[in-house]
Amino acid sequence: MAQLWGGRFTKETDALAYAFNASISYDKKLYKQDIAGSKAHAAMLGKQGILTEEETKQILAALDEILEDVSSGKLEITEEHEDIHSFVEAVLIQRLGDAGKKLHTGRSRNDQVALDMRLYIREEAVELDRLLRKLLETLLKIMETHTKTILPGFTHLQKAQPITLSHHMGAYFEMFKRDRQRLFDLYERMNYCPLGSGALAGTTFPLDREYTAKALGFYGPTLNSMDGVSDRDYLIELLSALSMVMMHLSRFSEEIIIWNTNEYQFVEIDDAYSTGSSIMPQKKNPDIAELTRGKTGRVYGALISLLTTMKSLPLAYNKDMQEDKELTFDAVDTAKGCLALFEGMLSSMKFLEENMKKSASRGFTNATDAADYLVNHGVPFRDAHGIIGRIVLYCVEKGIAVEDMSLEELRRFSDCFKEDIFEAVSMEACVNKRLTIGAPAKEAMEAAIKKEKEYLEQNPQIGICV
Ligand code: ARG
Repeated sequence: MAQLWGGRFTKETDALAYAFNASISYDKKLYKQDIAGSKAHAAMLGKQGILTEEETKQILAALDEILEDVSSGKLEITEEHEDIHSFVEAVLIQRLGDAGKKLHTGRSRNDQVALDMRLYIREEAVELDRLLRKLLETLLKIMETHTKTILPGFTHLQKAQPITLSHHMGAYFEMFKRDRQRLFDLYERMNYCPLGSGALAGTTFPLDREYTAKALGFYGPTLNSMDGVSDRDYLIELLSALSMVMMHLSRFSEEIIIWNTNEYQFVEIDDAYSTGSSIMPQKKNPDIAELTRGKTGRVYGALISLLTTMKSLPLAYNKDMQEDKELTFDAVDTAKGCLALFEGMLSSMKFLEENMKKSASRGFTNATDAADYLVNHGVPFRDAHGIIGRIVLYCVEKGIAVEDMSLEELRRFSDCFKEDIFEAVSMEACVNKRLTIGAPAKEAMEAAIKKEKEYLEQNPQIGICV
């Protein structure tokens, strides 16, 4: 295959070197973006009188045809071309002859690929945002339904204080909300068009960069052509945002895996989202949660990989940057897959409320509240802490809960205890007395839910704010 750059060469490229250099096997994914960029460039060249009206028309029509033929499968992207840019140009020339040869005027593959990647990320950011939003909506539904569903809250994976399922889900709501905000931020920063940066130093042709930027939906053109072709910050920001999404999903997965164990039985994963064992008939495994937890490593890997590739690269374009593609594509597809499946698993999951409540009341999760009761009856907190500690020890030895003790037994530890202690340390009271902003009481939770709903209404989608 003759190369775009064959003129200066007297010898064919070594076959292995050619294969090593080529990116078509994976950058063919960018054909739509490449054609959209080429169309904007051609229209601009026409407007500036660099192409004739006739040439412009022919090129635009041929690019549309190529897009249609590739999309329908009529035209195959074959590996004899070095990359997607060479492929589109070669087909254009094949179909149009000399007019096709003019498309690359004032353009380099360096600004072309920089543009393609931004267009790709922009689209994927919108899709990732949609998936995150869907997950938030599912979480919100659970939050609304379960303001009274009590379960133990943990520290050190030890039962700590009772909370509600609504409150627990609300913590994840906050995490995924921040993930959306990170996507939004990087979208805002990267939505500038590098087309027209040329190889590195712009071009001598009178390109209208404002025009192409606008035609392609960017806020404007990038302001330095060296940076335009060599900036990959937005990819690193995306991979970092996705690493955070995966970290959140993996924490959530870990909890679901624990909740799904025989020992906990807080949830039942729907059959559609679990699998069995080939040998043990009784098994129903939380594979989706485990795979999500496992795939987190791939996305972190992509981030570290690209950071390392970009480290010490001199200005401007270097071929090292071609390494940005496979890992970004993989990380984006992985995160999208995990988000979609996780949402499906979560929305179909059954919460076993009785087991949750029983677990909360069997773990002395009301010990803090019992101490607070004594404080309210004039006992200094440190003394109250000691008294309740001794009561817990007593209960552990007898295998009972604090609320199983009689008033008489309780009064052996402190005569401040009155009949109302039982109500004061009930799971419901423990939760519903926690009324500060962000706390689990039903009232506090309802106020938080209202705010989260407003957030969803005001932020329907990336790029659109109301
Ligand atoms: N395939 C290349 C990449 O992904 C496109 C840019 C090639 N430019 C060049 N001068 N070789 O980075």
